[in-house]
Amino acid sequence: MHLTLVRIGLKNEDQHTHTPANKAGSMGGERFPEPYQQPSSKAPSSESVKWIQSQVTRHHQRFARSIPLIASENLVSPLAAEMFSSDLHNRYAEGLPGSRYYEGNADYDPIEEHVESLAKRVFDAPFADVRPISGTTANISALFAISAPGNRFMAPELAAGAHISTQRFGAAGLRGLDTITYPSIPETMSIDTELAVEMIARENPDVCYIGQSVYLFPSDVKELVEAAREIDATIMYDAAHVLGLIAGNRFQDPLQDGVDLVCASTHKTLPGPQHGIILANQDRQLANGKMLHRAIRSAVFPGVHSNHHLHKVAALGVSLAEALEFQADYAEHTIANAKALAEGLWERGMKVFAPDHGFTESHTILVDVSEFGGGADVSLRAESCGLVMNKNMLPGDTSAVSPSGIRLGTPELTRLGMGVDEMDEVALMIHLAAQGDRESEVRQRAAELKKRFNSLHYCWNVGRGAYADPEFSPVN
Ligand SMILES: Cc1ncc(COP(=O)(O)O)c(C=O)c1O
Repeated sequence: MHLTLVRIGLKNEDQHTHTPANKAGSMGGERFPEPYQQPSSKAPSSESVKWIQSQVTRHHQRFARSIPLIASENLVSPLAAEMFSSDLHNRYAEGLPGSRYYEGNADYDPIEEHVESLAKRVFDAPFADVRPISGTTANISALFAISAPGNRFMAPELAAGAHISTQRFGAAGLRGLDTITYPSIPETMSIDTELAVEMIARENPDVCYIGQSVYLFPSDVKELVEAAREIDATIMYDAAHVLGLIAGNRFQDPLQDGVDLVCASTHKTLPGPQHGIILANQDRQLANGKMLHRAIRSAVFPGVHSNHHLHKVAALGVSLAEALEFQADYAEHTIANAKALAEGLWERGMKVFAPDHGFTESHTILVDVSEFGGGADVSLRAESCGLVMNKNMLPGDTSAVSPSGIRLGTPELTRLGMGVDEMDEVALMIHLAAQGDRESEVRQRAAELKKRFNSLHYCWNVGRGAYADPEFSPVN
């Protein structure tokens, strides 16, 4: 049943909304339906529910007409999403299966054990903890497990594609770590392995971290592990972005290459629920004297989490089962699409990173758009055209709010069934949007293309469509 909205005479959609998204105005050449009026502080509280429902519906309608290019986003499968509204959402299960602090988990405990065993199977991992509720809490848990305040922590720098959780002002700083940055190769946004190996020997870090939010090419994990072992440092790999490519055997296998542990989000190239995971290699005593597996368990709970969102664990199980079936194919097409998109932009004269290296070996490409006004301007202009992307720092940039680049990813477009043939059309639209040309034409093209690709692939039971209007109940 669809929500019937009472519309309260607004002149246009911008009247009550202030986000850039809403400033974008109409999409697909048509106006959006007028929004339900945002209730005042004196309105009956039911008005708030109706308004929130209407905004969510509008969000779905916006995405149904947009080209989603955010490298860290994806579409969870319908079967996995069904777990979100199960009763598991209402429950607590602190601790581990069989030794909980709350009763009521007789049926849930075997699910968590099973999801862990699925994770071990998908990643060929000796150990898995599926309780972290995001990639960031997985990282914080790992840092609590393997380091102590004052330890030296080595990671890439922000402008070389690092995630904020590895920085002084993120989780690493919160843990009191002294952060050192790896030397990087600007052309490929990769760690400069040769210099990094020397630096590890010289700087003697306690923890070496490998991983990036702009992860274009696999890292030289084996060499870095070898250098870390020489000084008895612990080595962690952040697979937040590339977990799904690893699951599909289309990237590197960091556990096989010898890292101690892998932290990740489960909703980027792995199209699972918004959640986190920690995988670990064979148990061993860490330099801080703790045993690796036990240290992770107690850092996850009671260290960093209380409850761990049981409905998401169940959904992750569904996504991992689907990964066993579909992920190799999906990962392969995701990477092929990223390469094709890069090629399409390059042919139109856009400065895509790493042309001499085939642009990318992952789901992500990076483009220097300083000639078009920089990443902030271009990503806003693109949004007005129905193309959703994010601005991104490039090597040499000092400002995260007005950086020179944009980051583009193909996980969601691939999930919708787009292939290399569609990437040329997407590249054309991005190029026009960057130039600020023919906004309404691009919007129309985006909506037309998207109309043909609005259902999920690489999963069971494709469902009603990726962005179908939600089925909200009336408020009464
Ligand atoms: C490399 C890396 N690590 C960790 C995270 C954090 O993940 P989450 O958003 O699940 O907290 C991200 C997010 O994009 C990331 O890119």
